[in-house]
Amino acid sequence: MATEIRIEQIANHVGQEVTIKGWLYASTPKGKLLFMRLRDGSGITQAVAFRPEIGDEQFELLKRLGQESSLIVTGTVRNNERAPGIPKGYEVGVTAVTVLQNVSDYPITPKEHGVEFLMDNRHLWLRSSQQWAIMRVRATIKRAIIDFLDNQGFLNIDTPIITPSAAEGTSTLFEVNYFDEKAYLAQTGQLYNEANIMAFGKVYCFGPTFRAEKSKTRRHLAEFWMVEPEMAYFDLDDLMAFEEQFVSYIVQTTLAQRRNELEYLERDLTVLEKITPPFPRISYDEAIARIHAIRDASDDPQQKELLAIEWGDDFGSPHETELTKRFDKPLFVYGYPTQVKAFYMEPWSGRPEVCKSVDLLAPEGYGEIIGGSERMSDPDMLIAAIQRHELPLEHYQWYVELRKYGSVPHSGFGLGLERTVAWICGLDHIRQTSPFPRTLNRMKP
Ligand code: 4AD
Ligand code: MG
Repeated sequence: MATEIRIEQIANHVGQEVTIKGWLYASTPKGKLLFMRLRDGSGITQAVAFRPEIGDEQFELLKRLGQESSLIVTGTVRNNERAPGIPKGYEVGVTAVTVLQNVSDYPITPKEHGVEFLMDNRHLWLRSSQQWAIMRVRATIKRAIIDFLDNQGFLNIDTPIITPSAAEGTSTLFEVNYFDEKAYLAQTGQLYNEANIMAFGKVYCFGPTFRAEKSKTRRHLAEFWMVEPEMAYFDLDDLMAFEEQFVSYIVQTTLAQRRNELEYLERDLTVLEKITPPFPRISYDEAIARIHAIRDASDDPQQKELLAIEWGDDFGSPHETELTKRFDKPLFVYGYPTQVKAFYMEPWSGRPEVCKSVDLLAPEGYGEIIGGSERMSDPDMLIAAIQRHELPLEHYQWYVELRKYGSVPHSGFGLGLERTVAWICGLDHIRQTSPFPRTLNRMKP
């Protein structure tokens, strides 16, 4: 009796007869041989049928199978250095095949298709090796995030998705009719996490987050996943030290556990191997000075225009790309102008126009993957900030109250899962990092 295996484990079964339940990815006949690429969800391997061994009838049947036909293959596993696959270097010498369904008109063929077509067929496109590899990397990144935080004594706690008020600006709110009252989909769980840390010390929430981003960019989704750690008795320096450990762990763990997938995606792994602490840190002021210097040195008028920026402006992606180009690790930029950041950030001591915020910009032009800050810990200052931002104070009374009963310095951040996946996989667009992405112009399938 052949043992049923998953392709992922094929290396442990060399010389054995095994059964694999899967789908036909592609096949190439070569005389008496038929090279089938078989996928089973855990990997891809080569299954080789030899006409004299399986008989003319079976051989002809297999030859006619179309892409994505479902089939159960039995055969003997052997090493073959040149066999493609994930993992590569193995193949199955077919002894028997059961065909469940012969498919003849699968819409996604190995030829090039446009992205819109592929996105319309996302329910099928997920089967393609590249998309499959990305989702496997994504799952590992999620696992690494959870493992790291759990091992550091964080309590995983869930924050609400239906919320009465804004936390990250009022321009990206998705409105919900909540029994005839206005509510919004959560832009962040942070405010609730600030309540949670006063009960549990170190917490994180990790779930879907919603932003009605009205711009089409390579970096924005309307629904994305964010992990948000929050820590009591933590200042801005503690935060940066923590974030560099966290991000390095995520990258190194993914590299160790998903090397095959990343290689398949043709990711330059040497770039990822360098992601270890410490990460470079520059202030916003220094970042502006650097951009001005780069701009002044450029003789390309278009570049000059793209890099235009004044102190007090937020960075656009051309600025982030220029800033990070000079480093091969993620770059911390801290101390942003108060006016470009959310209302809850602690002001810089003696410099209220600057706040204790820090963004982490990924290298290679991937831009911001983390936004974080030290939070305001004084209740009166917080009330003033809420009023300055013209937010309805009555919705934030509970939040202010956290500063009245045992207020402490505290900090936290949010890391966007999809942007992290795009960076680690080396993708040029965020839409491929989500199984079913929601963007400005798409919420189907
Ligand atoms: O910088 P943001 O807006 O920070 C917050 O929401 C804080 N409340 C987090 C916290 O301190 N607890 O978002 C954090 C990260 C960004 O750096 C980015 O990686 C991701 O969330 N992000 C998005 N990812 C995809 N699409 C979008 N529209 C995103 N908006 C933010
Ligand atoms: Mg941000």
